[in-house]
Amino acid sequence: MDNFVFYSPTEFVFGKETESMAGKLLKKYSAEKVLLLYGGGSVIKSGLMSRVEESLKNEGVSYITLGGVQPNPLDTKVYEGIELCRKDKVDFILAVGGGSVIDTAKAIAAGAPYDGDFWDFYNKGMAINSALKVATVLTIPAAGSEGSGNSVITKEEGSIKLGTGSPLLRPVFSVMNPVLTYTLPPYQTACGIADMMAHVMERYFTNTEGVEISSRLSEAVLQTIIKEAPVVMNEPENYDARANIMWAGTIAHNGTCGVGREEDWATHLLEHELSALYNVTHGAGLAVMFPAWMTYLADFNPDMLAQYAVRVWGIPESDDKKAVALKGVEALKNFFSSIGLPVSFKELGAKEEDIDLLVKRLHDNKGEKVGFFKKLTREDSRKIYQIAAR
Ligand code: NZQ
Ligand code: ZN
Repeated sequence: MDNFVFYSPTEFVFGKETESMAGKLLKKYSAEKVLLLYGGGSVIKSGLMSRVEESLKNEGVSYITLGGVQPNPLDTKVYEGIELCRKDKVDFILAVGGGSVIDTAKAIAAGAPYDGDFWDFYNKGMAINSALKVATVLTIPAAGSEGSGNSVITKEEGSIKLGTGSPLLRPVFSVMNPVLTYTLPPYQTACGIADMMAHVMERYFTNTEGVEISSRLSEAVLQTIIKEAPVVMNEPENYDARANIMWAGTIAHNGTCGVGREEDWATHLLEHELSALYNVTHGAGLAVMFPAWMTYLADFNPDMLAQYAVRVWGIPESDDKKAVALKGVEALKNFFSSIGLPVSFKELGAKEEDIDLLVKRLHDNKGEKVGFFKKLTREDSRKIYQIAAR
């Protein structure tokens, strides 16, 4: 096991009607002027926004609002938010929504006190030295941004999707009420499930040895998601199933499953090019790319992939590790299909003829080698996209 530092200061407030505590929590963390940030309107329609506003008013917390963050969030909204925060002297951003709203809140939080262009944190790897405080009221279990220090933003000009991270971007608190997820369209629920599984699997496949605790924890999280996913798809108002999925999404990405091991993340980078180019939902892109990456990797490290197939999917062991590995990939694909997700380029709406462009953009943006379990070259990436296009 590698040395590690694990720092996860977020206060999670989980359960029914917890959004009514937003005002009290903001006061507890000394918020003086809050920006309430939201997306395309689901939180207005559901009445969540007015409940949150009421909670702030009850505590006398001063706030302004900004809506219109879109999925695969854009830099343009970040600039708008930075200007607003500077003008109104905002010191705290409360993101009410999913990963896109939370990631935008984090980008604004880092950008507002910074003299240069916030994009420097994303494309130049500039360190974030100060940030406004961020907190969340989560409405979709998926990206795990409610418990992570990461943010992913797309630059509209040129459609470049890049991420950054800093402990300063970890939310101060995250309010998580599973009931809020009842209104999710089934496709968004399914995409969220694929994303959280991917967050575990990006950490699971590693060359680091002696990491039984995080491997076993990862397998448990995956098995929980596999068990609860059909329940939430068939019974969208099943509280316990929604609650289990919601907390699984947080554990999947708050770092617990990755400590002490080298993480991979190639599949996320392969996917980010798809969501940048076609504006597809991140989780849907992952449902296509993860099985393709695994199929390719079954030749490289059949033992690790076979272990995953046996322990997560219950595939019987055999001496032919590659065959076991490929059965695990098949099980994952069948699972994604069963909850209504695409598993090929065609089903996603991606085009085989764009593979050259995808490979070029991936390696031009992210470097000649991508990932760690196997450091992918341009040729590797091309083959993986080709498997996805089959
Ligand atoms: O915009 P509104 O109207 O709110 O609708 C949203 C949006 O259309 C809707 N929605 C959310 N909660 C709802 C709801 N509709 C009805 N009822 C509810 N309760 O769902 C749609 C998707 O929302 P979005 O915030 O985009 O989803 P998600 O949480 O999946 O976030 C995706 C973004 O996060 C990034 C992805 O790349 C993508 O840009 N990621 C961020 C990460 C991080 N910060 O650590 C890691 C991830 O790997 C990921 O890359
Ligand atoms: Zn993801």
